[in-house]
Amino acid sequence: MAITIKDIAKKAGVSITTVSKIINKKDDDISDKTREKVMKIIDDYNYVPSALATSLVTKKTNTIGLLVPDISNAFFAELARGVEDGANCEGYNVILCNTDDNPDKEIQYLNVLKVKHVDGIIFLSAALSNHNAIKRLNSEGFPIVVLDRTLDDENIMTVYLDNFAGGYMATKHLAEFGHKRIGCITGPLKNKLAKHRFCGYKKALEEMRISFDEHLVHEGNFKTNGGEFGAKKLLKAGATAIFACNDLMAYGAYKVIQEQGLKIPQDISVVGFDDIFMSDILAPPLTSVKQPTHVMGMVSAAMLIKSIKGEKLEKTKMEFKPTLSVRKSVSPPAKS
Ligand code: RIB
Repeated sequence: MAITIKDIAKKAGVSITTVSKIINKKDDDISDKTREKVMKIIDDYNYVPSALATSLVTKKTNTIGLLVPDISNAFFAELARGVEDGANCEGYNVILCNTDDNPDKEIQYLNVLKVKHVDGIIFLSAALSNHNAIKRLNSEGFPIVVLDRTLDDENIMTVYLDNFAGGYMATKHLAEFGHKRIGCITGPLKNKLAKHRFCGYKKALEEMRISFDEHLVHEGNFKTNGGEFGAKKLLKAGATAIFACNDLMAYGAYKVIQEQGLKIPQDISVVGFDDIFMSDILAPPLTSVKQPTHVMGMVSAAMLIKSIKGEKLEKTKMEFKPTLSVRKSVSPPAKS
């Protein structure tokens, strides 16, 4: 079995912390005699320090935790990619935790990350998350960045999208093609980000002088099946176009529309949100509100690591603007 830092300390007759200080060259307070004795044992046994040995003195593990609600959604995979790229270029590793949109699992993972002595956390809350644990950690000075799904706490570093603008531009795009019966499949409306997209939808209807009809709205769940349920309801209500507040629900809408023998966009136009990579290869390619996903991930990692190093941050809130990736899923309404 490989020799441990504990074995080295025992053989040298010193504490584990003394060995760790010598390994990390933080040993100004240690005599040359002791240092030489420990270094000889390390050489004799070819000892390689573990992450624990390194972290004992530096109190840093150069590791950050990332909690995401649903890693099976390519949006969070793309976001995690940005976080990891941002962390790696600063010499940090990432522990990825999938909370399944479950607040209990969130708490469980926060405890796991504490035990692992991560230096900071990037947090994307579950749809119905309990934010108190995060607020408490933040108030205790533990480095945290909230990403994508904002919390009502001015003191927490946050990286997020202007979701109102995203909902507005998706709906306006459909209205400009002449659609008057525009359905909306929202995300879980307890989630602030979902609410903002829905408000953008309503604002665009108002500005384009289209009356709001609650029968053209379905509260979804950011999953494909939520898009299927929503599309069935909205087609029954006579929608000629559907704005789905994320791409997975737009894919569910595609499935139902095509199962009913209808064509996209000739019969029904569809716009999604996130612009994950599959949207460009769909038949027909989906028009979608694009999030600067990878950049948001990298920026959140950079903000967190600056905070871990105790560096001052120019801004603790970073808002990003969406753009519209126009493809082939929208056309003027079929002649009624
Ligand atoms: O697709 C999942 C949705 O939840 C995305 O729109 C993203 O913003 C996340 O919050």
